[in-house]
Amino acid sequence: MSFSPHCGASVALAPARSPSPWVQRWLALLPPGATVLDFAAGSGRHAQYAHRRGLRATAIDRDRGALGELDPGPMVRIADLESGAWPFADERFDAVVVTNYLFRPRFALLAALVAPGGLLICETFAQGNERFGKPSNPNFLLAAGELCERSRRAGLSVVAYEHGLVEQPRSAVIQRVCATRPDRDGALRRLG
Ligand SMILES: C[S@@+](CC[C@H](N)C(=O)[O-])C[C@H]1O[C@@H](n2cnc3c(N)ncnc32)[C@H](O)[C@@H]1O
Repeated sequence: MSFSPHCGASVALAPARSPSPWVQRWLALLPPGATVLDFAAGSGRHAQYAHRRGLRATAIDRDRGALGELDPGPMVRIADLESGAWPFADERFDAVVVTNYLFRPRFALLAALVAPGGLLICETFAQGNERFGKPSNPNFLLAAGELCERSRRAGLSVVAYEHGLVEQPRSAVIQRVCATRPDRDGALRRLG
């Protein structure tokens, strides 16, 4: 694996059906019973992982078919996350997980779902990935630093950020961030 100068510690990108090591790393900070939203969840691999760790997981996606294969445990919600009414009202989660998905117009709404003291955990494709295949549409590729910038604009504090080339499960350019919303006293989440 090689990384751009933005990088921190290296973590391998998992095969799509396994939970991402990046997501596992940050979910490990949550206490039992904390709430986790797997946003645009697909098969719900991260909701499933969170549930097995004793977290209260919700998977949301527009595609009922993929979520229908989830083992009992996580709460499943079906909704269009890109148009129409925002399906969350004033709900907040201790962690919001977003992987292999990007829809810029609602990033601020998504970040607002993170509770005070909670985490936003994102990992998706970045510019340069066109060299390796899909996604190659610029709408789905992050610019360098973009997750940091968007997180900060949404009032979150960046805990960790990486941007670079991974080789597993296939060559891809990815970017990932873990950001936290300072709690009501302005304190940051304890990381260890
Ligand atoms: C590449 S998959 C990633 C799934 C999952 N996050 C993962 O990493 O395994 C992208 C997901 O976004 C969902 N999606 C795309 N557009 C959506 C929309 N408008 N509303 C809700 N979900 C959407 C798709 O149904 C699909 O499950």
